[in-house]
Amino acid sequence: MKILITGSEGQLGRSLNKLKPLDISLINCPKSKLDLTNKLEIKNTIYSYRPDWIINCGAYTKVLDAENNHKLAYSLNQTAPKLISEILSETGGKLIHLSTDYVFDGKSNKPYKVNDIKKPINIYGASKAAGEREVENIFKDTCQATILRTSGIIGPFGKNFSETMLQLFADREKVNVICDQISSPTSSLRLSFVIWEIIKKFSKRNISHTMPKIMHYSDDGICSWYDVACKINELAFENQLIKKKVKISPISSNQFHENVKRPKFSKLDSSETHKILNLKPIHWEESIKSYLKNKK
Ligand SMILES: NC(=O)c1ccc[n+]([C@@H]2O[C@H](COP(=O)([O-])OP(=O)(O)OC[C@H]3O[C@@H](n4cnc5c(N)ncnc54)[C@H](OP(=O)(O)O)[C@@H]3O)[C@@H](O)[C@H]2O)c1
Repeated sequence: MKILITGSEGQLGRSLNKLKPLDISLINCPKSKLDLTNKLEIKNTIYSYRPDWIINCGAYTKVLDAENNHKLAYSLNQTAPKLISEILSETGGKLIHLSTDYVFDGKSNKPYKVNDIKKPINIYGASKAAGEREVENIFKDTCQATILRTSGIIGPFGKNFSETMLQLFADREKVNVICDQISSPTSSLRLSFVIWEIIKKFSKRNISHTMPKIMHYSDDGICSWYDVACKINELAFENQLIKKKVKISPISSNQFHENVKRPKFSKLDSSETHKILNLKPIHWEESIKSYLKNKK
């Protein structure tokens, strides 16, 4: 089976490579090989490889910068998935399109389900929601694609919250972390495992049910970034990744003075995904524990 990964040098792309099942032939497409703003490159690449699946990890992911880079954000997050979907609908390949909890406005008081109303409050979220609409429209009559929403990816590869915290803990005595944005982080490795399970399940013929059009996966539990920082501080010290624990103070989003709105509550309800794939939920604290243990 041939699987093409876009944005393959991002944190999810690299995690997918680390957990690649043996029977899969991977076509890694980093930005240098497949620029998702280049329509011709997208067309030529997909037509020449004719992959069985595409995992669309490539995206404009800089939430703050997106506010001043609408055009590029929409080009990567809306136009590229549209084109990928159009071509796959001709070649017959399947698609896992990665999306985000930021398509929601964060005003709910319970975890978001797949069909809850999307109401993004920033450009990144709006561009990802627009990309979802394109994928849904093109595949509305087939089960060739799933939109897989996730939240707060952290792990061993690339720039992410945990790596930033470890750096700050090494450099500073005191760190302020936002306590009023509630969701849960997601291990890039666990998310990759889930993606390979989706592919395994929905590549089989004669399966009892069809691939859902939208799926959610985030690690189990509900927390703020402050909670995550405190756990990383504790575990990093236990694992001797830092010499001493630092003082962490909770601050509100307003005190952080960031020029972008972020959802206050964006926990994804992943129960259907667990049921469909027959997986046990893994708590975010467990994910961070195993990630930091392996980092030693
Ligand atoms: N990170 C999160 O917390 C999070 C949360 C929810 C959903 N998601 C979604 O999950 C997916 C994977 O995220 P991630 O954390 O792996 O993001 P990431 O580490 O930022 O990876 C995105 C990749 O896309 C590449 N890219 C940027 N511009 C491109 C272009 N013009 N053509 C081709 N590739 C380009 C980036 O390359 P460069 O680095 O060289 O620019 C990077 O390798 C994305 O769809 C994202 O929206 C992420």
